[in-house]
Amino acid sequence: MSNLSVIAGKSSEDLARKLSKKIKANLVKSEIRTFPDGESKITLKGNLSKKKSIVVQSIYPPVDTNLIQALSLISKAKETSSKVIAVIPYMGYARQDREFLIGEIITMKVLAKLFKGAGASEIIVVDIHSKFGLKYFTIKSKNVTAIPDLVKYFKKLSLKKPLVISPDQGGKERTKEFAKIFGSEYIILEKKRNRKTGKVQIKTKNADEVAGRDIILVDDMISTGGSIINATQFLKKQKCRRVYVACTHALLMNDAANKIKKAGVANIISTNTIPGKTSIVDVSNTIAKIII
Ligand code: R5P
Repeated sequence: MSNLSVIAGKSSEDLARKLSKKIKANLVKSEIRTFPDGESKITLKGNLSKKKSIVVQSIYPPVDTNLIQALSLISKAKETSSKVIAVIPYMGYARQDREFLIGEIITMKVLAKLFKGAGASEIIVVDIHSKFGLKYFTIKSKNVTAIPDLVKYFKKLSLKKPLVISPDQGGKERTKEFAKIFGSEYIILEKKRNRKTGKVQIKTKNADEVAGRDIILVDDMISTGGSIINATQFLKKQKCRRVYVACTHALLMNDAANKIKKAGVANIISTNTIPGKTSIVDVSNTIAKIII
């Protein structure tokens, strides 16, 4: 028995398998049965290390189901392993990290208590919406970035006068880092979101330098596609060339992928923190590096 186990949650089976190989850990799969009322019954298929277990489970839709499964796996792992690391490649609920309107609940505060209570001694996330959300955790927390992995993919494309763009101010650091590694210029658009209706609008008018250039829009996540669609429509009006999207977490809710294509995006490239058609960039190496 290796002194390191990786427990593959159902939402991150492939990523967990890749990670276990990279860190030479024993892979333990989980079997799920869903009861008619929606409850998950989870059974671990293997023995755990007494020393350290790593639970890998992204919290994408169905968010609450994947969350309870993550907590259950951590709780079960803690019965055997003295140290349990929660690897949550996509951290659902991370956007609710502040009380924007009075009475709103900061879900990151709730999650911090739940992960600790379940038995995690450390949490690792990938490109969390904002690092601010991790300040509620009293256990050790680390955010790793998939930006270098995404850049590696884009370096293989032949782009014309590429320009890296953030669809909003919040993505400034991420975009700056992408541009620095990629070796190009970057600009930041100004997105306004109506906190009541959720509607987004691009305010910036002076993005003249986009004309005739291939664009890489960099974002942490795509949910409805609204942010990317607004940015793309705005950039197309400025006569840009092709628009590519580089994002870590592609939720692509409902028909977001089609809507984004219709808006004129040539391709969406995302990582395997959320498995899907666009998730062609693997982050297991990046996660492995922080664990070893
Ligand atoms: C917002 O600040 C985030 O960085 C993303 O741009 C946003 O959450 C994506 O959501 P949607 O695809 O629904 O616009």
